[in-house]
Amino acid sequence: MRAIVATRALPSSDPLAFEPRELPDPSPGDQDLLIRVEAVAVNPVDAKVRASLPHEPGTPRILGWDGAGVVEAVGGAVRDFSPGDAVFFAGDITRPGCYAEKVLVDGRLCGPKPAILSFAEAAALPLTSLTAWEALFERIGLDSEGADAGRSLLILGGAGGVGSIAIQLARRAGLEVIATASRPESRAWCLDLGASHVVDHHQPLAPQLAALGYGEVDAIANFSDTDAYWNVMAELIKPQGAIVCIVGNRSPLDLNVLKSKSVRLAWEFMFTRPQYRTADMAQQGVILGIISKLVDSGGLRSTCHDRLSPINADTLGQAHGRLESGQAIGKLVLVGWLA
Ligand SMILES: NC(=O)c1ccc[n+]([C@@H]2O[C@H](COP(=O)([O-])OP(=O)(O)OC[C@H]3O[C@@H](n4cnc5c(N)ncnc54)[C@H](OP(=O)(O)O)[C@@H]3O)[C@@H](O)[C@H]2O)c1
Repeated sequence: MRAIVATRALPSSDPLAFEPRELPDPSPGDQDLLIRVEAVAVNPVDAKVRASLPHEPGTPRILGWDGAGVVEAVGGAVRDFSPGDAVFFAGDITRPGCYAEKVLVDGRLCGPKPAILSFAEAAALPLTSLTAWEALFERIGLDSEGADAGRSLLILGGAGGVGSIAIQLARRAGLEVIATASRPESRAWCLDLGASHVVDHHQPLAPQLAALGYGEVDAIANFSDTDAYWNVMAELIKPQGAIVCIVGNRSPLDLNVLKSKSVRLAWEFMFTRPQYRTADMAQQGVILGIISKLVDSGGLRSTCHDRLSPINADTLGQAHGRLESGQAIGKLVLVGWLA
């Protein structure tokens, strides 16, 4: 199979940041699907792993943990999928990724591709949907079916990949979503996805929220810099509110700022279940199944905003450059292999 590998930490603009390699097809373990990859979405984690590689050429790494494709073969213990099925998946960051014509993914982590979406539109969804779903409905326990309707949720980083699906999931659950965005196009994107209000994260947030009638909010989903927003979140969260963060902090943070309000703080890491093979890891397949149904019934839409084609070393370098700009709107997807 063709794979696009990274062997060392080079800038995304370096022509050697990614290299094509011919590798043997992987063969599925008991629980695996062997998937022919049709489209891949890029995520900041891909760029972070690339940047963490050694400076000298080392073992080739296949990055990429977000995609859609067709099942070619299944392991002996797989019951839910068969060859020919179209699937979408994020998978497991401890295994080779999907910047390759074929990838192995544990079937329990996969969902059926939404039938109404193209492979590119479907590839935009898995990693960010799992992150947003787990963050909102599992880690801080908001109700996905409306029992928390009317409660206020501040989403920091509304137009990014995670924010774009979180806004939709939260609105569907009846929450009042205040998203942050700093540019006219990212602001318009958030409003179009269902945010009730958009505030500018480059201006002080408290006065903007106060002007909208929110002194404090019931919950905060921080899809941006945890350190930068720590004290702001402590100020804006209601007593007994909940905060979920998805970006590791760089410096020690003072937990005491959350104590007097008895704030609940949760981490979300989408790869926890696959990496630790938790007893409930199949929940990720369940979540992707729900996402798929919601898309097919018109309750959610793809967050695919930009596409590049075909999937090769050049387009992956370009895609990582865009990721590193920090100005993504929705998802950037690469689609198709040149024959
Ligand atoms: N823990 C997990 O499981 C998990 C999962 C997915 C992602 N992540 C991490 O979460 C972060 C976000 O991921 P993503 O895929 O959503 O990223 P992304 O798509 O690259 O996010 C881009 C967005 O970030 C916004 N932004 C830039 N600076 C900001 C700031 N100071 N405050 C608030 N928003 C800002 C931009 O909005 P404007 O252009 O409007 O400024 C842009 O729309 C990354 O660090 C990623 O590694 C963690």
